[in-house]
Amino acid sequence: MPNFCCKILANFTAMEQEKIDNFTEKLKTAFNEGNLVKLTLSKLRAKENDLQKITITPVRLKAGLKVNFVYSYKKRDITKNYSLDESLDLIKNGLAEDFLSADMYIVGENVKLLIDKKNVAKLLIKKIDLPKPVSLNHNRIKERAIVTQDNIWLREVGITNAAWQVKHEMKDKYLQINRYIELLQPEIERLEKKDHLTVVDMGSGKGYLTFALYQHLTNSYYKNINMKGVEYRPDLVDICNRIATKAGFENLEFLQGTIENTQFADPDILIALHACDTATDDAIFRGISQNASLIVCAPCCHKQIRKAMKVENEFSSVLKHGILEERQAELLTDGLRALIMEVFGYKTRVFEFISSEHTSKNIMIVGRKVGINEARKAKVLEEITAVKRLFGIERHYLEDLLNM
Ligand SMILES: C[S@@+](CC[C@H](N)C(=O)[O-])C[C@H]1O[C@@H](n2cnc3c(N)ncnc32)[C@H](O)[C@@H]1O
Repeated sequence: MPNFCCKILANFTAMEQEKIDNFTEKLKTAFNEGNLVKLTLSKLRAKENDLQKITITPVRLKAGLKVNFVYSYKKRDITKNYSLDESLDLIKNGLAEDFLSADMYIVGENVKLLIDKKNVAKLLIKKIDLPKPVSLNHNRIKERAIVTQDNIWLREVGITNAAWQVKHEMKDKYLQINRYIELLQPEIERLEKKDHLTVVDMGSGKGYLTFALYQHLTNSYYKNINMKGVEYRPDLVDICNRIATKAGFENLEFLQGTIENTQFADPDILIALHACDTATDDAIFRGISQNASLIVCAPCCHKQIRKAMKVENEFSSVLKHGILEERQAELLTDGLRALIMEVFGYKTRVFEFISSEHTSKNIMIVGRKVGINEARKAKVLEEITAVKRLFGIERHYLEDLLNM
């Protein structure tokens, strides 16, 4: 247990001590039977204590079932794992010296121990309908592409805490990063094998996905890689460059610039994830005009086509509802992007990137350069014209960029 400041030692009577012993006995039984869900120690005796609470849960590690303590301080969390015996001692000490409240959830019960300033304890037990903790029924944690242990960038971007554990509020982000790598994996494997790989990430933002891809590529495939992140916010560029240095990512560099005005000769992979509106088109244009082997984008907002649509046929009665018009514009924007990429020799796939329960900006377009014959090209151009005619669209912004 960290050394708390301002300790006040509680002096319990035999009767109060018995209640505390009953509480810890219940904890011990619940833990041994796999019924412990969570215990929180809170309400510090000394108000000036930086520590706010301790959250205690069972955790299955390689070394067996342990007790995980998360010490929540005002500005950081510290995590430690203990054996059951160590935990019981720490909890008893904690109740004697530091905390006035212990709130425990076990299968079927909520058990509360409340201590007042005069060290009078109350043990409250309420029947509740709580199932067995699911995580303990599995003794294997899914191996993820991006490991957490000793992974410096993941900690520096704030996804993991000092103990290399994924922070509760960053779980979705962590899953999203892993999903992204899983989805790109088959595309990376299809790339022509070569010694050197160039990757550009347009609109790299806080760099989550840039770092993840760099690490995955250098760990799994390419020792010789050159990766750039392009971002117009200088503060993010500085932060990301600092993290890259800390993590020892020698061949990853973030540059301040715009997607529209930054060019790289022959990148193998061009990425643009969640770039707003036509910035996605600017990125696709860069990829196509610089002959990227793989273009990966996850469009963000779609304004241009919505404004360009002039529907004067049977569809107009459906599109009078704003939300449907917006969705239709999104479909058309991305569908036309995929077709235009095809015209330039990219075999395209459009799919859901992450589940829509996390975000509605979840479509990914992946284009792999394979070439196209003239007959197919003519056919795709006809398809583009037909779709545009149906929705009264004169031009897609990407067509203008590509001078089609
Ligand atoms: C929504 S964030 C996405 C960041 C990252 N790609 C991701 O998916 O986690 C979009 C980022 O692109 C940057 N950005 C938007 N338009 C840009 C442009 N035209 N040129 C360069 N950066 C741009 C923004 O500053 C922002 O950091």
